[in-house]
This record gives sequence, C-alpha cells and structure tokens, in this order.
Amino acid sequence: MTATDFDLEMQADPDEIVMIPATAERKPDHYPVDVASKVFWAQTSEEREKTFEVLRREQPVSWQRPVDDAVTPDPDDPGFWAVVKHSDIVKVSRDNDTFISGQGVLFDLLPPIFLELTQSFLAMDNPKHDRLRKLVASAFTPKQVKLIEEKIRTAAREIVDGFASEPSGEIEFVERCAEQLPTRIFCDIMGVPEHLRLSTARNAADIVAWADPETLAGRLADEVQIEAATNLHDIAAELIEAKRAEPANDLITALINAEVDGQALDDFEIGAFFVLMAVAGTDTTKHTSSLTVRAMTHFPEQRQWLMEDFDGRINNAIEEFIRFASPVMTFRRTAVAETEIGGQTIIPGDKVVLLYPSGCMDSEVFDEPHKFDLSRENARDHVGFGGGGVHFCLGNQLAKSMLRALFRELLTRIPEFEAGEPELLGTNFMRGVKRMPFRFVPEK
Ligand code: HEM
Repeated sequence: MTATDFDLEMQADPDEIVMIPATAERKPDHYPVDVASKVFWAQTSEEREKTFEVLRREQPVSWQRPVDDAVTPDPDDPGFWAVVKHSDIVKVSRDNDTFISGQGVLFDLLPPIFLELTQSFLAMDNPKHDRLRKLVASAFTPKQVKLIEEKIRTAAREIVDGFASEPSGEIEFVERCAEQLPTRIFCDIMGVPEHLRLSTARNAADIVAWADPETLAGRLADEVQIEAATNLHDIAAELIEAKRAEPANDLITALINAEVDGQALDDFEIGAFFVLMAVAGTDTTKHTSSLTVRAMTHFPEQRQWLMEDFDGRINNAIEEFIRFASPVMTFRRTAVAETEIGGQTIIPGDKVVLLYPSGCMDSEVFDEPHKFDLSRENARDHVGFGGGGVHFCLGNQLAKSMLRALFRELLTRIPEFEAGEPELLGTNFMRGVKRMPFRFVPEK
C-alpha cells in the first residue's frame, strides 16, 4: 500500500483504524548501540543517558531491533526508529499528519484489548482526537487550574502536616507524600469518593509497571495489565451509576452529559477516559516529585538558591524539575507517509519511538545538561510534556500547580531534608520511583 492509498482510506472513514503493516524493506542493519534490550532499560537513567549521548552524536535516528520480551511478541515486527535529539522529537511530535498515534503509542507490543481499555484519545488521530480531547480540555486550562489552586495548596499543606513533625524525622516518601497530592486532586476533579481513591491510584500505578518484576510477582505482564485496567473500568462504572443517580460538579458527570456529534459517550468510552486520565494524572507527577527531591539532595545549592526567592523562582524551577526528571520516557508514533528525519528515510508503517529523557539532555539545546540548574533560562524548552502537537500533555498546568504547592510546603517547613537511594520501577515507559527513604529535621 502506498502512502496515497492509505490517505484515501483515511478520508473514506476518518474514525476507522486501518492497520498499516510494518516492513523491514529499505532498512539499514539494526544499529549496534541498542535501546531495545531489557538490559538497557534495567540501567539507571544516568547509565542510559550515556547511550543516548552516543546516539545523539553518532546516529540521532537509529534503526533498532524489536523490543526485548515484548508483552505480546510479534514475529513479523521488524524493529523501530529511535529518535533521540530534541529537534527531531519536536519535529515528529508536531507533524501529526505524517506520524499518527491511532496505531498505538506505546513502545512495547501490548495486547489490543489492553489498548482499547486504557488509551482513549491518547491513541487517536484527528478529527476524533480533537473531538474527544475537547470534552475534558476545559477542566485543565490555566484559568480553570487557577480556580482550584487554593484547594491544591490546602491539600499539599495537609499532606505535609501528616509527617512534618514526626519525631523520627524519617518516612518512605512515595507512599506518605509523592502519591498523595496527585491522587487527591485527580479524584476530586473526577468525583471519586474516598473509599475508591486508594484502589484508583494503585491500579493506575500497576498499569504502567508492566515490566517490573516486583509488580508482576510471577504473573504475566498482560494478566496484570488487563486486571488493573478492568479494575479501573469497574471503578468508573460505579462512578457513572452514582453520578447518573446524583449528578455533581465533576468530570464524570460532565462526561455523562457530553455529546460528540450529537451522540452521548457510552460507558466504555467514559471508562477508557477515566483510565487514561488516572494514569496520566497521578503517576507522572508522583514520580516527578520523588525524582526532584532526590535531585535537590544531590544539588543542595540549588535548593538554597530557590529558597532565597521562592515565589519569584519557582515557576522556572518547575520547568527544570520536569526537564531533569522527565518521567515519561517513551511514546511512539507510526508513519503514514514517506518522509525523512535525521537523514533517514521513514516509510509508511514504520514505528518511530520518541525518547523524551534524551531530548531533555540534548546539549545542542541545553548548556551543561547534566546539571540540575533551577535558573536555566531555557528550561521551559524541555520535551518532558511532549514535543508539541495535538497530543501535548493536557495536564501540564495542573502538574505544575501541584509541584508548586508541594515544594512550597516541603521547602518552607522542613527545608533540611535528604532523599536516600530510590528503588526504581523496571520499565521502558515510566521513570518511576517505587520507594525512597526521606529524612528531615522535624518541624517544631
Ligand atoms: C509531571 C507530570 C506530567 C508529565 C511529565 C506528563 C507527560 C506527558 C507526555 C509526555 C504526554 C504525551 C505527549 C505527546 O504525545 O506529545 C502526555 C499526555 C497527556 N497527559 Fe500528561 N504528563 C504529566 C501530568 C499530567 C497530568 C497531571 C494530567 C491530568 C490528568 C495529564 C494528562 C495527560 C493527557 C490526558 C494526555 C494525552 C493528551 C492527548 O493525547 O491529547 N498529564 N503527558
């Protein structure tokens, strides 16, 4: 099938997904510097960055062998293009006509049922993507986030109240702090009642941990994923029933009442929305907080600098938190037309994987990229929320507001803290911290 044939099919029915086969045609040998292996993803981010640095210099767009131990291996999978430079990540992200998401956005090969259960508009293309994104976008505008800023600050204060004066001066940071604020705010926005909040957060966390041996505990990855996704759909079903009986001022009620082209969403579509938002809205900010506390331990002078003028400096500092931590490590696109990036010819059907942490460390854009520098003038140019285009992170304002509130509390109330060695999640998608010791001088 040529690109033109494909375009015509797309025009015939824009909502129908036409799978384009990937092909090994016109490909170089698999590049010897490898980002597909399990060993590569089991490394620390500092070790992985050494490989990205080599690729940025030698082969910014490299043809890679298929990912190791895919959840649903495909013997015909020829491999993928790895895109590691900032400028190329931006180019691919913004060209949503050539590089589409409707054929899957995850780097691993996952079961189709899992994708249907979890991805919603993240894995859709226009016009359908925009129609669905618009339904929830109004809840995440800067103006809307400003309206709930006080609520976010109160929640952050109460969370830090929960441990700041603990005499031992030591907690496990992820459970006692990092996961609390995003879970609480996401659940408030969605209208999730108290008794379902913990299971919402835990199932959302399991979904992104599919390659982590501890999470799997001997079970198969697809079993764990589908179970977690089904649990979240069950929670969504309970919410839908409750909100139909008693509408409230929350996003689930808004989705029940929403129409796309004159048609209401069905319960499954609302469920998939819920799963996407639960994963996107909780785990990402949680890991950014943990990784930032760790970075502040390594770069104490940066913490000091921020504290000299917290209000004046925090917004730029947050951009550097995201650049440095870059918790979402990969998303993928599929090419539907022939094009060129980084001197390589990309043809329809090719999978193209965007490696965001590498883009965030690109020395052509960021001076001394390995330095955590909260005064970095162009920190906001990071690609931690994506490289732009129609899928750019919908929750970026909310994430920044939560980080601002949490670090205000931590830095003003227990400024003398240090993070111990984090236990990292073993996956190629989320740069996650499972547990991390946190020691501090308690508040009097
Ligand atoms: C530090 C925190 C966060 C980071 C690093 C992050 C990162 C990302 C990235 C890399 C993407 C994909 C961009 C692309 O494909 O071009 C994305 C998409 C998305 N994010 Fe975030 N995110 C964060 C927080 C949030 C929060 C709090 C929410 C709120 C619910 C959220 C909701 C979404 C949604 C719904 C999408 C899909 C957008 C679309 O396909 O149109 N994110 N995010």
